[in-house]
Amino acid sequence: MILPLASPKSGPRWAPRRRYGFRRRVGLLVGLGLVIWTILQVLSIHHRIALVDNRPPPSQPSDRVFIASTHWNNERILRSNWNDAVVDLVRTLGPDNVFVSVLESGSWDDSKGALHELDTRLDRLGVRRNITLSDTTHQDEISAPPGHEGWINTPRGRKELRRIPYLARLRNWTLQPLVDLARQGVTFDKVLFLNDVVFTVDDVAVLLNTNDGVYGAVCSLDFSKPPLYYDTFALRDSQGDEHIMQTWPYFRSGASRRALINMEPVPVKSCWNGMVAMPAAPFLSSPPLRFRAIPDSLALSHLEGSECCLIHADNPLSQTHGVYLNPQVRVGYKPEAYAAVHPARAWLSLQNIAMALWENRIRRWTTSSYFKLQVVRGRIAKWQGNQPQQREKGDFCLINEMQVLVANGWAHV
Ligand SMILES: *[C@@H]1O[C@H](CO)[C@@H](O)[C@H](O)[C@H]1NC(C)=O
Ligand SMILES: *[C@@H]1O[C@H](CO)[C@@H](O)[C@H](O)[C@H]1NC(C)=O
Repeated sequence: MILPLASPKSGPRWAPRRRYGFRRRVGLLVGLGLVIWTILQVLSIHHRIALVDNRPPPSQPSDRVFIASTHWNNERILRSNWNDAVVDLVRTLGPDNVFVSVLESGSWDDSKGALHELDTRLDRLGVRRNITLSDTTHQDEISAPPGHEGWINTPRGRKELRRIPYLARLRNWTLQPLVDLARQGVTFDKVLFLNDVVFTVDDVAVLLNTNDGVYGAVCSLDFSKPPLYYDTFALRDSQGDEHIMQTWPYFRSGASRRALINMEPVPVKSCWNGMVAMPAAPFLSSPPLRFRAIPDSLALSHLEGSECCLIHADNPLSQTHGVYLNPQVRVGYKPEAYAAVHPARAWLSLQNIAMALWENRIRRWTTSSYFKLQVVRGRIAKWQGNQPQQREKGDFCLINEMQVLVANGWAHV
């Protein structure tokens, strides 16, 4: 910019001050414009959120639903909310239109007792189900002789069981009845994966009805310690990027952010986040869609990806029908978390929205996912150098971590 400041000798003394005053006025005006623009934007977003959240739920779904769930030490939520919610859901969908597939293994609380109660209640309703309570603990898993797959040499000098192949195996297991029933001619429209969350029948109805029921997958948004969302390992925006902030509006990509702000189904590359609905067909096609981990040889370069992200990378419907996160469906890992994201009024205050929009902008302007991605890409390239036949479709799922199972849970190594 050219500042034609008059030299002190040739011009009147007040001229520079007046120019400074002019610039100040322009600055003030721009500032005021930004404030007004922010206020209008915030009011409109707040209005939109309240409007969408108060929409009556869609009429009850007519889908035939296969419910799949794995549990470990979830007694508390099972007894306080989950069992009741599943029973409500089954009643609403109609016992003939549901199958409930649950696998619990090695809990040291009384998850087994709680699930046994659910089993009894579902039996009374005449619901088809497979509720398997397994005694195999993490300790049993990690003390078994190292198997062929899913075990790697870790930096602490041991051969250890990777967490993700283990979880993929459990999740796959819950899908087996879907395959067996299909052989007998019993089919389902959707598979509904439920985490150990507080949810309602209306939440499920809205979820299933997302995008008029057309999607490769649709997820809720999950909260353990609101306002932070929970499952960061599986959520990737429409560009495949991780969240830019763990609070609303989360995303770096414009497409994901705009949809979220409008309370519309958010296009993403991957999500899991509490509850997920997917068409059943891919799980029955050939080859069937299954949960998996990245190959051990790739994990060895200190990379890991969630089985719940890789499944979207593998699902052919992700490309054709899209993966969505529905911001209208918000679930919690505790009743208090659920309540916090379902206040009487809009779930985000005007002040929240204003601060968050600017925080997101500033983060976008000042950070880049480039360097983090370069690390991952470099390792994949090196791995491919050694194994030219191999490809990893789920590269956007990968992060710089190594996760193994331990007796009381899992660990980063
Ligand atoms: C997933 O399930 C299928 C079928 O049950 C099985 O063949 C496959 O090995 C499983 N994958 C993992 C990672 O457990
Ligand atoms: C539950 O499913 C598993 C895996 O398919 C199967 O081995 C088991 O027999 C089933 N249990 C019942 C009671 O049907």
